[in-house]
Amino acid sequence: MSDTLTPRRRFLAWFSAGLGAVAAAAVGVPVIGFFFAPLMRRPVEAWRSLGPVGRFRIGETVEVRIPSPAPVPWAGEAAEMAAWLRRQGPSEFVAFSVNCTHLGCPVRWMANAQLFLCPCHGGVYYEDGAVAGGPPPRALTQYPVRVQDGNVFLRTSALPLG
Ligand code: FES
Repeated sequence: MSDTLTPRRRFLAWFSAGLGAVAAAAVGVPVIGFFFAPLMRRPVEAWRSLGPVGRFRIGETVEVRIPSPAPVPWAGEAAEMAAWLRRQGPSEFVAFSVNCTHLGCPVRWMANAQLFLCPCHGGVYYEDGAVAGGPPPRALTQYPVRVQDGNVFLRTSALPLG
């Protein structure tokens, strides 16, 4: 009788160990991926075309949308990023992040008041991006902009946290 139990016990021990290994892999692989995925991501700095210079009127601030430089596969519509772009002269542009420096809500450009307003906690920014009031700790982040061959390009970059 004990001869038949020993192989069964041995089988159950191996089976239990196998199940434990599968369960550990099911939990461990995503956790390891979470920590190492940032090392594998593409750099977020890239020059993106916003279109011909003539598309933008001098003195006007408009929202522009471009493909995100480092989208995740499941991002969907969030694979786009937005910025506020102002043409200041024939070939002078300035671009601001749409994200409030307080907690990241999207700011809106109010042309009549010449201010950026954040709807979340009442943050206000002057037209140059400097803080005018409310909780934002610093000015709106600016993106580098250049004109090349008659087209406007914006360089995406990671936004500072905190
Ligand atoms: S997120 Fe803009 S003021 Fe708080």
